[in-house]
Amino acid sequence: MAKKQLRIGLIGYSFMGRAHSNAFHQVNHFFPSSYELVPQAVCGRDETAVRAFAEKWGYKSIETDWKKLIARADIDVIDVATPNNLHAEQVIAAAKAGKMILCEKPLGLNGKEAEKMLAAVKKAGVANMVWYNYRRCPAVVLAKNLIDAGKLGKVFHYRANFLQDWTISPDLPQGGTGLWRLDVKVAGSGVTGDLLAHCIDTALWLNGGIKDVSAMTETFVKQRKHNITGKVERVGIDDACIFHCHFNNGSLGQFESTRYARGHKALYTFEINGEHMSLKWDLHDLHRLQIFDHSDEGQERGWKSIHVSDGDHPYCGNWWVPGLQLGYEHSFVHAMVEFVKGLESGKGCTPNFEDGLATDYVVDAVLASAKSKKWIKVKQALRHRVPLNSNQTCP
Ligand SMILES: NC(=O)c1ccc[n+]([C@@H]2O[C@H](COP(=O)([O-])OP(=O)(O)OC[C@H]3O[C@@H](n4cnc5c(N)ncnc54)[C@H](O)[C@@H]3O)[C@@H](O)[C@H]2O)c1
Repeated sequence: MAKKQLRIGLIGYSFMGRAHSNAFHQVNHFFPSSYELVPQAVCGRDETAVRAFAEKWGYKSIETDWKKLIARADIDVIDVATPNNLHAEQVIAAAKAGKMILCEKPLGLNGKEAEKMLAAVKKAGVANMVWYNYRRCPAVVLAKNLIDAGKLGKVFHYRANFLQDWTISPDLPQGGTGLWRLDVKVAGSGVTGDLLAHCIDTALWLNGGIKDVSAMTETFVKQRKHNITGKVERVGIDDACIFHCHFNNGSLGQFESTRYARGHKALYTFEINGEHMSLKWDLHDLHRLQIFDHSDEGQERGWKSIHVSDGDHPYCGNWWVPGLQLGYEHSFVHAMVEFVKGLESGKGCTPNFEDGLATDYVVDAVLASAKSKKWIKVKQALRHRVPLNSNQTCP
C-alpha cells in the first residue's frame, strides 16, 4: 500500500533544525509505518544559508518568510524550531491554516501564551507535539515503565539538576544569533524556561503533577552589552534557579539549574526514590538507567546499571544489534516516531500542547515564587487529548 506522505515545513535551521531534520530521515529508515516523512520546505531569513541547509538535509524548496511557508498547500506539518518569542505567533498561524504542528520547547514564553496556543490547536483539531525529547531516551522510557508497573511503590522524593557553565564570562554579550537565550524579551526567562523546563516535563511525566513551589533565582551578571542595540543593558534572565515543591502524589521535589557550574556542559540528572526502588538517570550516560531494588537478596543488594540497548528495551529493537548504545539524536527520532504513531492511532501523542502548557504553568509559578519569596500554587493544565481531524488519521 502506498504510504501517506507527511510533508514537513521547517522554520529555523540551526541547532534544533538540524536535530529535527536528522530525525525525519531516520524515522523513515528505522521505524516503518504507514507514513513517509517528506522534508518539503525549510524557512530561514538568510536565503543563501537556508538554500545550503536545504541542499544538505534534502529539503525540496525554501522560503524566507515563514508566513509564506505556512500558507503553502503542499505542507502538512509545520515544525517550529525558532527562538521562544516566535513560537506563539507561528503556531497560531499554522493552526489557523489547518497544519499539524511540532513546536520546540518551551511551548510559550509563559502560561498565558501557551493557553492561546493550546486553544488554537484545539479549535483547529490539528495534531500537535512539543519537542521535550528527553522523555524519549530509551532509559527514561524504561524508568517510566517501571514506575507505571508500580515497582517503586510510594514515591518519596524526586530531584533533578540541569547544569551548564557557558555564560560565566561577564564579557559575553546578550541578544542576537546564538545569544538570544540571554535576552529576556526573546527567551522569556533564563535557565528556568530553558533548562528546568526539560526537568519539569520529565518530572510531570514520571511523577505526576506539581502542587506548589518555593523558588529562588539569581542573575549573577546584571548587565551585558546587547548585540543588536550595541548598548549595555540590564540582564533580565535568571542565571540560576533552585526550587522545591510538593507533587500531587505527596512526594517532595527538588530542582536546580544554572549556567554557572564550572565544568558542566549539559549535566541533566534525575533521581526518584520510592518505597521499594530508586532510579537514577544521567544525560552524560543517557543509555544507562541506575536501579536500586530493595527486594534484591541480602549481600547482592546494591545499585545496578542497566545498559539500555537490548532488543526488548524501548525503541532499541528498531536500531542495531543488542549492546550497541543509542545517543542524543535518537531522542528526537523517537519523539517523531510517537507523533507518527499518534496519527496512526488517531489518538495523538505526548508530550502535546497540554503537556507543554503544564510545564509552562510550573515555570510561571517558579518565577513568581522567586520574585515574591512565597510558596506559589501551580495552575493545573487540563488533561484531555486534542481530537484530530479525520483527514489527519491513518485510514
Ligand atoms: N529540545 C531540546 O533539547 C532543545 C535544545 C535546544 C533548543 N531548543 C529550543 O529550540 C528552539 C530553537 O533553539 P536553537 O538552539 O535551535 O536556536 P538557534 O539560535 O540555533 O536557531 C534558531 C533558528 O531560528 C531562526 N530564526 C530566527 N528568527 C526567525 C524568523 N523570524 N523567521 C525564520 N527563522 C528565524 C534562526 O535563523 C535560526 O536558524 C528554542 O525554542 C529552544 O528553546 C530545544
